[in-house]
Amino acid sequence: MDYFHYQDDQLFCEEVALEQIAQAVGTPFYCYSERTLLHHLQVFQQAFASQDSLICYSVKANSNLAVLDALAKQGAGFDIVSGGELERVRRVGCPGERVVFSGVGKSRAEIQAALAYGVRMFNVESIPELQRIQEVALAMDVAAPVTLRINPDVDPKTHPYISTGLKRNKFGIPFGEAVAVYQQAAQMSHVQVVGLDCHIGSQLTQLSPFVDALKRVMVLIQALKGHGIEIKNLDLGGGLGIPYEDGDTPPSPAELAAALLEQLDGMPVTVILEPGRAIVGNAGVLVTRVEYVKKGEQRHFVITDAGMNDLLRPAIYNAYHGVIPLQRKFDREEQVVDVVGPICETGDFFARDRYLSEVYQGELLAVRSAGAYGFVMSSNYNTRPRVAEVLVRGDRYAVVRKRESVAQLLENESLFEDA
Ligand code: LLP
Repeated sequence: MDYFHYQDDQLFCEEVALEQIAQAVGTPFYCYSERTLLHHLQVFQQAFASQDSLICYSVKANSNLAVLDALAKQGAGFDIVSGGELERVRRVGCPGERVVFSGVGKSRAEIQAALAYGVRMFNVESIPELQRIQEVALAMDVAAPVTLRINPDVDPKTHPYISTGLKRNKFGIPFGEAVAVYQQAAQMSHVQVVGLDCHIGSQLTQLSPFVDALKRVMVLIQALKGHGIEIKNLDLGGGLGIPYEDGDTPPSPAELAAALLEQLDGMPVTVILEPGRAIVGNAGVLVTRVEYVKKGEQRHFVITDAGMNDLLRPAIYNAYHGVIPLQRKFDREEQVVDVVGPICETGDFFARDRYLSEVYQGELLAVRSAGAYGFVMSSNYNTRPRVAEVLVRGDRYAVVRKRESVAQLLENESLFEDA
């Protein structure tokens, strides 16, 4: 569900024609619909409303301050994975009790900053990390709230969509070791066990792995109770998939909530979710101009001014993104084309062997479902300044991140000057 639509054959984001933004801002740019992302947050919040719950948007998916600000104002919490992301949530004024800190490699400085901020909990991924948190908390003379991220070892074979998501042994504490590690944590003087965490992958398009994982961790929660360890926060991670292609029908947040809450059956825990993609993925597009149309003998290439440095997902995951024109024309013939960027790599493409109605040099295209893991994964490869980000609110829009300049890119570089 999103608020991008055609009106008189012009592509609009909410009430603003994307072409109008392109003319004012230049291309390429990312455009986000605030109404869409707030709607998605609200759908999650409502779906879990019958349970004590907190939706902690996963900042890594799209960390623009204006996006975070909009979500924070609607009551979102945040799932962060770095000191940088902590600074972002600080800037939008999100209280610590709505912030969870995930990630396998938390540094001392990051732990210190998060403790000072008063985050709700650290989702701990290893014994050495637990020890480090204890040390830092001891030095600061505070109690560090922790959960252990448990790897539930859900059989990926039955769920081919997510099998790569589960081959991630660097994540979490093995299920079989969980009780022992919890006991260790419970004995630490400056660590306070406040819950359990589990995240099993991203872009999941079936409910069963979520349910299987929950079943396993519920067994663990019972076992922990027997050892006097009480789980108050149950963080079930993110990972709900979105439709990228017409015909994709991943479960809705409501279906996810219904399945999980049925399993939980009133267990007195605060359920935390960390959705990223499901909130912002379809709330954003990447708008790009066609630089050239190159007609080869076998293939037609549509060469755009955006490249893989701006949106990396097709290049590294062979991910599908819809490509649509800003101006729809029904008198054009359909052609099979490759939509490619200007970068010197064969992997620099947005779409391959795609049926598109004929496009001409200078025309504008939107690459869809680019709101999550789009701008945040962009780079300056080929010394290309990162593009502008625009947020639309109703009939207004604002540039919420300026386009970078080449001068900015070179600012931190210097020649080796001999003394
Ligand atoms: N929580 C944890 C601990 C995570 O590692 C992630 C994503 C999330 C929450 C949010 O997952 P989501 O709801 O967005 O699926 N770059 C890849 C996706 C990487 C996901 C990493 N972890 C992509 O472009 O598809």
